[in-house]
Amino acid sequence: MTTPKVRETEKILSSHRQLEGAGFIVRRPLPAPGLAALDPFLLIDEMGPVEYRPGEAVGAPDHPHRGFETVTYVLEGEVVHEDSAGHRGTIKPGGVQWMTAGGGIIHSETPSASVLEQGGRAHGFQIWVNLPARLKLTRPRYQELDAQQIPTASTSDGLSHVKIIAGAALGKRAAIDTLTPIVYQDWSLQPGADVQVALDSAQRALVYVFQGSARVGDEGTLVKDGQLAILGEGDLARLRGADEPARLLLLAGVPLGEPVARYGPFVMNTQQELRQAFADYQSGRMGEITRTAQVG
Ligand code: CO
Repeated sequence: MTTPKVRETEKILSSHRQLEGAGFIVRRPLPAPGLAALDPFLLIDEMGPVEYRPGEAVGAPDHPHRGFETVTYVLEGEVVHEDSAGHRGTIKPGGVQWMTAGGGIIHSETPSASVLEQGGRAHGFQIWVNLPARLKLTRPRYQELDAQQIPTASTSDGLSHVKIIAGAALGKRAAIDTLTPIVYQDWSLQPGADVQVALDSAQRALVYVFQGSARVGDEGTLVKDGQLAILGEGDLARLRGADEPARLLLLAGVPLGEPVARYGPFVMNTQQELRQAFADYQSGRMGEITRTAQVG
């Protein structure tokens, strides 16, 4: 047996602030200037944290998607969503919505009535995961889990804690089923924490720190709040605490290695497929959100 190779940091990107949707502020490490994607990840948005006053909260009204998946993870606040496939729900703190847009869906993502009326904190993530050509037009699918349904685990020293949204860590496996092999984990690391996560060597791995700072790899490269570390080749990620508590996302996925034709909410393989996506959206072939009287 050969010794597993620890992945070291190859490059660090700093997130930039940007306005999205109807005007909410995101911290966006990806895309970055000169970097359209980190195959298979197309976008990483940290929404907030922001403190809304009453009447101030905003979201993303009706818009389409085709050809990829949107993964929404709420840390604070509430996001109400509706879509053209008839789903409606509220993502609460700790909850995840893994939406496979596939062949096409129209959805809205807005703050809940109580957040809108009373104000409050909002914080979360939206990540876009690309789909391979063979799955771009798959039937839209939707998985929603609340905080209690997300498996968690801690190391025996109590210094590392993980919420396993996708993939496996510390002997536990995610409840969400992904179409391609994706790792999506929310790690909390105390000073002195030192943990290893096995990752398939075919996967590209990323670490995004969103609180405090952490050290990555045997080299212990310091990754700070708002920074995205791109890890190099290897069989496992080693995450370590620094001198303050840290929180980070560990992401990994197998690069698709396919051409990407991307415009706004559509991510296809060719310009012709992009034109078709716009035509299908404009002619109503992606459906519409059927709204009845609002309840709650
Ligand atoms: Co959307």
